[in-house]
Amino acid sequence: MKERVPMKTEVLQPDEQAIQKAAALLREGDLVGMPTETVYGLAANALNPAALLKIFKAKGRPQDNPLIVHISDLSMLDGLVSRLPTIAKSLAQAYWPGPLTMILPKGKQIPYEATAGLESVGIRFPSHPVAQKLIAAAGLPLAAPSANLSGKPSPTTAAHVYEDLNGKIPLILDGGECSVGLESTVIAVGEESVRLLRPGGITVEMLERFCPVEVDDAVCHQLKQGAVAASPGMKYKHYSPKAHVVILDGTLEQFCTYLSAHKQKNTYALVFDGEQQELGVPSLTYGGNAQEQAKELFAALRKLDELGAGVVYARCPDRSGMGLAVYNRLIRAAGFEIISL
Ligand code: TXA
Ligand code: MG
Repeated sequence: MKERVPMKTEVLQPDEQAIQKAAALLREGDLVGMPTETVYGLAANALNPAALLKIFKAKGRPQDNPLIVHISDLSMLDGLVSRLPTIAKSLAQAYWPGPLTMILPKGKQIPYEATAGLESVGIRFPSHPVAQKLIAAAGLPLAAPSANLSGKPSPTTAAHVYEDLNGKIPLILDGGECSVGLESTVIAVGEESVRLLRPGGITVEMLERFCPVEVDDAVCHQLKQGAVAASPGMKYKHYSPKAHVVILDGTLEQFCTYLSAHKQKNTYALVFDGEQQELGVPSLTYGGNAQEQAKELFAALRKLDELGAGVVYARCPDRSGMGLAVYNRLIRAAGFEIISL
């Protein structure tokens, strides 16, 4: 039997030549690490079942978790979706390109390997210029989940992708640090309203300018045992660092009091900018305002693992605007462990 040699993973600056190389790999059915404005994606030809299966294998992703299909032009929608509700048209006009994924009726061209057997498909038009150029150069819609190993925080730099997928994919395009830092907003689009399945850079308030928004229960709460997830990705313990993360909901003063009463060896604090003084334990910050928190959260979670943190007590983000997305990711990293002070 042929011995399996681990693949050499190249990391390239996304100049014209590198984009052409990546596009050729995608056309041949290979995988490419691709920068987007939200997080890095692990891209494959969305129309090629064998290429799609490689994504699941490289990430160790459960087969029942559907992928998002990325486009670089509205004209690509033909064949990818069977119908475009009026609300979807308005939202596309307002927020595409950008961090919004719409779940729409699946078109004939999309194989079930992309949708995990569902009759709907998630579509996103990213705003990152490298993602747009790559999709256009490949001449294909690209399926791309976040480019992390399943269960790890999503990658916001090319180095994070390399850390997780070195030896498993041929190429990563290095587009620098992602500007949003959390995955796209995912909505199921109905005829008269939308349902928020995953909060992100396009906030509830921004969606409400166009239509009523129902926030799915799983956004802020753990799914009850046996309940069916509207978005399969929501049932997994995502974004989880090795450390045991606990969110403390209260003022900074209450946080400090709790920390000094409960700190042990290897306890870390995860706090906001400007709060690091006098905590009495080693700490990391994850931004000041909600935009900064979104941008810095995943890198901070990875850093805590690197430091070998045991227990991490985290400050609780405000749940309005972009803060809802930060809260949604942090509470999953904490396995839904939150203490009201
Ligand atoms: O920002 C993003 O969306 C990034 C970048 C790379 O574009 N991608 C990303 O993909 O976060 P992924 O696979 O990590 O998350 C996709 C989420 C999952 O929770 C999945 O269950 C949900 O979207 N999803 C995809 N298609 C769906 C569908 N047809 N119905 C319901 N949920 C769907
Ligand atoms: Mg993901």
